[in-house]
Amino acid sequence: MSGDISPPLALLAELTHRCPLRCPYCSNPLELERAGAELDQASWQRVLSEAAALGVLQVHFSGGEPLVRRDLASLVRHAGSVGLYSNLITSGVLLDRARLAELVEAGLEHVQLSFQDAESAGADRVAGLAGAHDKKLSVAALVREAGLPLTVNAVMHRQNLERLPEMIDLALRLGAGRLEVAHVQYYGWALANRRALLPTEAQLERATAIVAEARLRLKGVLTIDYVVPDYYARRPKACMGGWGRQFLNISPAGKVLPCHAAESLPGFEFPSVRSTSLAEIWYRSDAFSRFRGTDWMPEPCHSCDKREIDWGGCRCQAFALTGDAARTDPACALAPDRALLDRLREADAAAPAGDFVYRQIGGAPAAASGPILAPSP
Ligand code: SF4
Ligand code: FES
Repeated sequence: MSGDISPPLALLAELTHRCPLRCPYCSNPLELERAGAELDQASWQRVLSEAAALGVLQVHFSGGEPLVRRDLASLVRHAGSVGLYSNLITSGVLLDRARLAELVEAGLEHVQLSFQDAESAGADRVAGLAGAHDKKLSVAALVREAGLPLTVNAVMHRQNLERLPEMIDLALRLGAGRLEVAHVQYYGWALANRRALLPTEAQLERATAIVAEARLRLKGVLTIDYVVPDYYARRPKACMGGWGRQFLNISPAGKVLPCHAAESLPGFEFPSVRSTSLAEIWYRSDAFSRFRGTDWMPEPCHSCDKREIDWGGCRCQAFALTGDAARTDPACALAPDRALLDRLREADAAAPAGDFVYRQIGGAPAAASGPILAPSP
């Protein structure tokens, strides 16, 4: 503790933005970092040591695709040596038996494997890579063979939500202990693809009922995480557990962010681990202080009895929808801007899905990425 600021619990280490997949809901920023800008192995090891000293308990190695980094095993080993629990968040397509054995030997403790759909054709279309789904199936078997706990990350949206029962069956078949049924969140690439991805109300109601039934049926066998997507929620999620309260995100180039989408916010200088210590950034930077706690909140949040539960929702979503990161997240039914979100949702859900804008170096075409304030016609 320093003053009334608690130390962070978890670090999301985005080792790279390189990835063989091109998912249209990728949480990476539209401007992807190139390989030449990435932190080197020694810098990541120093950062992991600083994180552990700061109080972080878990490191999630992520990307892009973290397996692109040939030094991943040495980073996992270093994380273990400073007492951090290591989780690998991966698409799996670059993993084989030898690479997994290297990671297990280095001390990897958990794998989160993403699936784009329950069947190959749909999954490979979303991933933008032929053969990806079948490869993932074999990788899941390798992970279980190696004795590692497996979480299946299933990103669900308008074009695959009908196959949620099959997705639950798939997670069971693969021996996962946990299934994250993650509805797409609309920032970055997903915002550019919102019309293609936003489910209809009928789809969502069916999905919620399916999850409720499966949770009862599979109690003690498969844990299912599920949150109603923001565009249909009455109250927002506590994004990142609150700004600057639990999480640190480090970009491939070493910028330290309160969340993975924070670089979409204007008016911030995000400090770098190349020049500033993690402790200094966590406890004293403007970037982490700006929306921490409740003092910054406008009404109705400031006098709301939920303000220390959801922390006013998501700053990146508030910016994406209203152009002002300091406004109440429109996902809240009490927000002054809620009508804007309702209009967008109804217009998008009623329109044809259209084509995907796939993730690519160089950003989304201008027609897809902006302007953020314009409701879909
Ligand atoms: Fe949360 Fe603000 Fe809505 Fe209250 S008014 S529920 S604090 S977003
Ligand atoms: Fe940035 Fe929610 S994603 S605060």
